[in-house]
Amino acid sequence: MSIARINQYYKDLERIKSRATTQNELAIKSAFKNLLNDYCRTKDLELIEEQTIIGSAKRPDGVVVDAFKFRYGYWEAKDASDDIEKEIIEKQRINYPMFNFLIENSLQAVLIQGESKEKIDITDKQALHQVISKFIAYERIEIKEFKQAITQFQIDLPQIIEVLREMIAKQNENKNTEFAKARTDFFAICQEAINPNISLADIDEMLIQHILTEDIFKAVFDDEVFHEENNIAKALKKIEKTFFSGDVKRQTLAASRPYYAQIKARATEMQDYTQKQEFLKGIYENFYKAYNPKAADTLGIIYTPKEIVNFMLESTDYLLEKHFGKTLSDKNVHILDPATGTGTFITDLLNFLPKQDLEYKYKNEIHANEVAILPYYIANLNIEYTYKNRMKEYVEFKNLCWVDTLDSTGGLAYSGKQNDAFGVTAENTQRIKNQNEQKISVIIGNPPYNANQQNENDNNKNRTYREIDQRIKDTYIKESTAQKTKVYDMYARFYRWAMDRVAEKGIIAFVTNRSFIDSKTFDGFRKIIERDFDECIIIDTKSDVRANPKISGTKNNVFGIQTGVALMFLVKTGKKP
Ligand SMILES: C[S@@+](CC[C@H](N)C(=O)[O-])C[C@H]1O[C@@H](n2cnc3c(N)ncnc32)[C@H](O)[C@@H]1O
Repeated sequence: MSIARINQYYKDLERIKSRATTQNELAIKSAFKNLLNDYCRTKDLELIEEQTIIGSAKRPDGVVVDAFKFRYGYWEAKDASDDIEKEIIEKQRINYPMFNFLIENSLQAVLIQGESKEKIDITDKQALHQVISKFIAYERIEIKEFKQAITQFQIDLPQIIEVLREMIAKQNENKNTEFAKARTDFFAICQEAINPNISLADIDEMLIQHILTEDIFKAVFDDEVFHEENNIAKALKKIEKTFFSGDVKRQTLAASRPYYAQIKARATEMQDYTQKQEFLKGIYENFYKAYNPKAADTLGIIYTPKEIVNFMLESTDYLLEKHFGKTLSDKNVHILDPATGTGTFITDLLNFLPKQDLEYKYKNEIHANEVAILPYYIANLNIEYTYKNRMKEYVEFKNLCWVDTLDSTGGLAYSGKQNDAFGVTAENTQRIKNQNEQKISVIIGNPPYNANQQNENDNNKNRTYREIDQRIKDTYIKESTAQKTKVYDMYARFYRWAMDRVAEKGIIAFVTNRSFIDSKTFDGFRKIIERDFDECIIIDTKSDVRANPKISGTKNNVFGIQTGVALMFLVKTGKKP
């Protein structure tokens, strides 16, 4: 940040003061807020307004947070006629946190960091620059230690993974029969639910992820049983127990102990359950990117911002009422998130529905799918935790399937087959069958949308999907006049799947890549929408960095990516001929 930005602040302040009818804090604080936030962003921090301080009713004007939602400092805005010293005394009286506290009234600013206090005249550019820089540079010792533990874990992780891989290989060499049996059983589940071509090496990787993360989950949601109850977690635990317990486990994971301890310590500070969930997401993203950056890329690991999720749920509720005279809380309105990730849409939905309808909806009419083991675990934890928090009772969420949605074609309109793609053994299989038997009215979510990978040399290509790709050929591509007729992006596949899944009536609400709006290859896709749907609402966030000369970098996009993002709501009433 530079003095030029401070000059901009003075100009903003002057303009607001000259135009506002009142000079109170509400009218003028936006200038300082914008200045402060610009400073925050240089350190990947964000200034969030009006957040309650946990465990109290106090609401500072702004709190500085990082991606883990850790709080770095508080900001208070006062108006020019307020006496700052008196305000500070009052704040001290009510035990306002002062470890890093900035208060200003557009004339003066005071920075308090524990015992130290510094007062400046706001018109002194250099002093203002220094005070703000000091404010955003402040890091509590616990946060510093946490970050160090994370960095160290990322350094140690490859070594730990290598040791685990060797151990697993030894079980094969030594003909550990218990291990072989548990692994074969799990292998069968995976072939059915995830991918018929899945390999034993893939199973071993899942096992490693399971081993490395179970302590993270325990640390964040201490003493909760959710994870242990889950059918997939149980199956992996069964394999784990055949070779990895007691001293062997303790010694192998010794290097990661400080990391788990740090997570536990930070999670214990969070009494607010939504904060815990957000924290877990941050940890998960961090872990997964370190563990397997390629998979993070293929599966589209980024989770959906709460504001978008909330907007999509409310809009879907509105459209349901408008077109069908129903709402999300009504019976017989089955809702599915087919790429649930960490479960944000479902947890938000659980908070959105009226309490009296929740138990029935949760047990019967809310469904979610996820293909990757870690987000699946996290979704399971988040969903069950949210339900327990609201209803004060733990109920297993039986409608979460560990499955490749695009392979799960038994419930699609054209298929005519009654779920025969899946066998009958495991609980997960039963869950998939159950989902496929339901008439789904609402499909909502944020499916992955990495077309063919940014780097063509990358052999991390997405796999093909015989049935869905054929449907795309018979519809989107058939209707297309474009030369290049390959529309096999993951998100196009998810749209195809969803369009076939809602069958005669329903709503699809997705946030995806925006390329379907104007790209030539999507002309057939657009024609099908016009032909099959009664209403289509698109919100283009204009965030395609390559196409929009006014923006650059990754800061203009809610997902921190360069690809443009759009929301689309599709309504099918069944009235079209
Ligand atoms: C963009 S993320 C969804 C984020 C989610 N809304 C959240 O807030 O956490 C897409 C998710 O879809 C999952 N996914 C990708 N392909 C899938 C498939 N074929 N079937 C089911 N899930 C899939 C990925 O593993 C990833 O978790």
